Amino acid sequence: MAGVKPGERVAFIAGNWKMNLDHLQAIAFVQKLAWTLSDARHDYSATEVAVFPPFTDIRSVQNLITGDKLELGFGAQDVSAHLSGAYTGEISALFLKALGAPYVIVGHSERRQYHHESDEQIAEKVAVSIQNDVVPVICVGETAEDLELYGPSAVPVAQLRAALSLSEGATNVVVAYEPVWAIGSGQAATPEQAEQVAEQLRYVVAEVLGGEVADATRILYGGSVKSTNIAGFLRQPNVDGALVGGASLDIAEFASIAQFRKHVGT
Ligand code: PGA
Repeated sequence: MAGVKPGERVAFIAGNWKMNLDHLQAIAFVQKLAWTLSDARHDYSATEVAVFPPFTDIRSVQNLITGDKLELGFGAQDVSAHLSGAYTGEISALFLKALGAPYVIVGHSERRQYHHESDEQIAEKVAVSIQNDVVPVICVGETAEDLELYGPSAVPVAQLRAALSLSEGATNVVVAYEPVWAIGSGQAATPEQAEQVAEQLRYVVAEVLGGEVADATRILYGGSVKSTNIAGFLRQPNVDGALVGGASLDIAEFASIAQFRKHVGT
């Protein structure tokens, strides 16, 4: 099948809702998303689909997914670097584990920018997630200024090295390359730009976690992904999926992104 990487990595389409949809809206949304994908005969074994709602929605989404045996995955948008204690407002990886959350986004550029998360904190969050069986979706990406100063891959490569620095034995991580200039701007990277950086990021995974893990690691592209540009990214050998923000809040659009194989060749 065009666009499939046979015997290789299962594609991954992840919806980062950011601070949108309360728990009631989340339930209606996930139900409709599951129906839409089921109507389209979505093959979850070829393309995994997951949603990343706000913390207050996660229990409701988990209940729905397990109760109705939906094949959708889910995760949180952040996690504390600490496991428990006097950290007002934070959420432990233990709590995500207790909810059976398969994933957590770590180091999103909005966390780095608005909450001043450092590479060191992100490395701790990655480590604590892995230690508690929650797979981190590690976000890296350069700003427009970085791009001008250092070129396309220097900053994301350095961020990924730092993020993995406390997790040497890890076998299961997801990496998301999200150029900051492409997030929410309507100005996506080109598939070639995404591939160029994704390839460098795979080398970093190989360097830190070994070649076998690097081969199995999904590297996503994020930043203004839509149904009209998704196929070009997934055609790249090192791009295995997408982290979708704005377009993940529109059920038809997100389902269409998840069905990217239908657009390959278009
Ligand atoms: P966007 O956001 O798809 O709205 O550009 C992507 C992200 O921030 O993960």
